[in-house]
Amino acid sequence: MDVSRLLESEPSVGLIRNIAKVGLSLCYPGARCPDYFAGLEMALRDEPPPFGTREYGLIYRSLSVEPRWMAVSLITNAEREGDGSKRLWSLAACSLIEEHRHLLKRHACDESRHALIYLSLLDLSFPGSVSREFRADLRQLSPHFAMRRELCPIEGSPYAKVPSLDDFLQMNIAEIRTAIHHTLQRPALAQHCPAANSAKITRLHDSLLYDELRHIAYTAVLIDECARNGDGARLTGLFRRRFRDFNAITTEELGNNVYDCSVACCAKRPWCRAKSYIAQPEPTLYQIGTGLP
Ligand SMILES: [Fe+2]
Ligand SMILES: [Fe+2]
Repeated sequence: MDVSRLLESEPSVGLIRNIAKVGLSLCYPGARCPDYFAGLEMALRDEPPPFGTREYGLIYRSLSVEPRWMAVSLITNAEREGDGSKRLWSLAACSLIEEHRHLLKRHACDESRHALIYLSLLDLSFPGSVSREFRADLRQLSPHFAMRRELCPIEGSPYAKVPSLDDFLQMNIAEIRTAIHHTLQRPALAQHCPAANSAKITRLHDSLLYDELRHIAYTAVLIDECARNGDGARLTGLFRRRFRDFNAITTEELGNNVYDCSVACCAKRPWCRAKSYIAQPEPTLYQIGTGLP
């Protein structure tokens, strides 16, 4: 199984398993992570995720034919990446292990860059769809982190804490779901984008997917490391529980025709994961201009 086969596959439990395997073999050739894969198998068996079903892909396809939905979804992706980046930055700053600090910092920088890449995908897929002023505002969705910048926890963030097995599990599940979204997003964008921009979109999308696979792989390695260093007995139960939580969020989002809801949306729902660590007022993010039908 390679990356191109992942992109051709429909969402399924098998695809989730393959995403984790391909990520690990690409980024950590030779690593096996037996505890991680045993925990993943049990969690997939006991808490099968909605994003591992054919219906998930069918609903996505029915929604993504609508240009406005697709454009808003790219902006929401940018917002999510920027938000995730800030959480990772705080976790990285508080990690006590130098190697983990470096991995989490790099992850934070990746997601910060991804926020900008999603905005480039918006420009390329829907040229002229947002006003110049709004487009300039959208750049603020990225915290613009860089490896040369010194780590420092973000004030007030609940992620200003030493990262744990639980954090790595939640990151791993979220990254797997993001990779599933990639497989759905690529053909959807191809339907909308001007032909002249399709090669650029493919290049950007390839780089996003490769990064997400790397995020899945390094969190799998850290989960396996935690299991070997005293967290082994907790791994399966916690993996199951976090899949259950994530599945509930995904099901609720699907009911609203959303594939990863906005930060403000989560902030209104206290149970909706810690993904809303900064309660923001309703943003004016969705002021899509008149360029869309
Ligand atoms: Fe990302
Ligand atoms: Fe990621």
